Amino acid sequence: MKPSSQLLAQILEDVRPLMGRGKVADYIPALADVPNHKLGIAVCYNDGDLITAGDADEAFSIQSISKALSLTLAMQNYRAEEIWTRVGKEPSGQAFNSLIQLEMEQGIPRNPFINAGALVVSDMLHTRQSAPRQRMLEFVRQLADNPHLCYDKVVADSEMQHSDRNAAIAYLMRAFGNFDNEVVPVLTNYFHYCALEMSCVDLAKAFFYLANQGTPLSGKTRILTPTQSKQMNALLATCGLYDGAGEFAYRVGMPGKSGVGGGIIAIVPGEMSIAVWSPELDPSGNSLAGTAALELLSARIGRSIF
Ligand code: DON
Repeated sequence: MKPSSQLLAQILEDVRPLMGRGKVADYIPALADVPNHKLGIAVCYNDGDLITAGDADEAFSIQSISKALSLTLAMQNYRAEEIWTRVGKEPSGQAFNSLIQLEMEQGIPRNPFINAGALVVSDMLHTRQSAPRQRMLEFVRQLADNPHLCYDKVVADSEMQHSDRNAAIAYLMRAFGNFDNEVVPVLTNYFHYCALEMSCVDLAKAFFYLANQGTPLSGKTRILTPTQSKQMNALLATCGLYDGAGEFAYRVGMPGKSGVGGGIIAIVPGEMSIAVWSPELDPSGNSLAGTAALELLSARIGRSIF
């Protein structure tokens, strides 16, 4: 069922009382300064309609949502066996920036959506692309049909200054022989991907290809094959919300990807892509009110993959 803008507005009002129950990411000042009351939602429906409510047009830091975009680019540039020998397809059950399994599992990250996995994917892109940051920008501008999309330089630089843990992850993988390039340039690219500034509207449009068997909103060049699109959705459903993936599947029942900027994208295959934004996070680093809004949406339109 196609949601109306009234339904979306009602859902936002229903989750607004949750404000104050979560915690805005504070590991860098640029994220800590984002007002906690921001709340937006956008749905891109398969008839081309865009339905929105709240702060749907306001850009924010997409952070780990970018991990689904970088994996998509890797799937375009590498054969499946080249990717899946370097990174796994299993949920980690650990925090997104944990090092524990990486040591025990010989530098092979559990999946491409935890930081370690996304760093391997960034390493792969660095190897096969001549200008990875520019390529990512062109890719998202085309997907979202928004030529103004940019990296937030303040966020990217600040991430670099607070990069000890991600650097440790990358160096550990390099020690295991699962990292081909110098760590610093790859980290720089990874932080830029995280620092992409997009609104719920941009995100819903950009991720429509996953609701449409790999074909983007523009209907032009296919982004992924239908099989790859299915595979991406399966990984998002099992690993996209880190150690909160089971809870998210139980409550929302859609493939999804979160970021510590408070954004979440969710997919109803064949029907719609959804983006929500609320900066306060739950203990797993996923948007607290954003998850609640998706849970209500799923219940009220009677849609989930289960
Ligand atoms: O690398 C990091 O840890 C952050 N730039 C991104 C983490 C993130 O978004 C996790 N998502 N919920």
